[in-house]
Amino acid sequence: MTAVERPNLAAYARLVKRVATVIALAPAIILCLQVIAGDFGWNPTRAFMDTVGRWAIRLFLLTMAVGPLHRLTGWSPWLAARRRLGVATFAYACVHVAVYVGFELGWSWEMIIDDLADRGAILVGVIALTLMLPLALTSWDGAISRIGGRAWRRLHWLAYPALAHAVYHFGLMVGRDKREALAYAGIVVALLAGRIGAWWARRNRRRLIS
Ligand code: HEM
Repeated sequence: MTAVERPNLAAYARLVKRVATVIALAPAIILCLQVIAGDFGWNPTRAFMDTVGRWAIRLFLLTMAVGPLHRLTGWSPWLAARRRLGVATFAYACVHVAVYVGFELGWSWEMIIDDLADRGAILVGVIALTLMLPLALTSWDGAISRIGGRAWRRLHWLAYPALAHAVYHFGLMVGRDKREALAYAGIVVALLAGRIGAWWARRNRRRLIS
């Protein structure tokens, strides 16, 4: 790569970051407009919570699509979108859970434990959020140097079970029409197959070299 091309890539990375910021904030703006317009019907808390949860999953899928996009195109600026989209995913998931625990259950630990015991689907959601937590906690600049690049990359495999649990939680919660959840499940399988394929190809390449 020439010296002229390198600053171009940095400029594209900045542009990709800005677009990622817009994408990350857009659901929040749409949600605010929906609240103001009174779009959430007779049970606004529940409808708001469901909508935030759906946005969290969509952003999660988008975050996970960045890697394959980079591998397919070989264009590194795509990677600049990943952290912003990932942090936004976690933020929307936290809002979803906060609305449930705060507004639906009034911060009552008894009700939370009862609901956890009664509905396996809630436990699946808790597992999804728990798996997302280490990724969110290591999403800042110093984290990679502290835990080391290799450990950090290994940790990020957690994103796949986290996403799978989030989609499974959605599928269990959504009621009769499972089409959206099934479409997301299909995307998760495709993403995971692509990731394993890329890992396998890299492993074989390394074996051939050594
Ligand atoms: C502590 C973890 C979690 C708890 C306690 C929780 C709780 C809930 C509850 C109570 C519902 C049912 C709402 C209803 O009956 O309409 C629900 C639905 C949902 N949750 Fe979660 N959730 C958790 C984690 C997550 C995560 C991490 C995501 C996404 C990344 C997510 C996405 C969704 C979606 C998409 C729905 C269904 C929305 C719909 O029916 O349209 N949840 N969650």
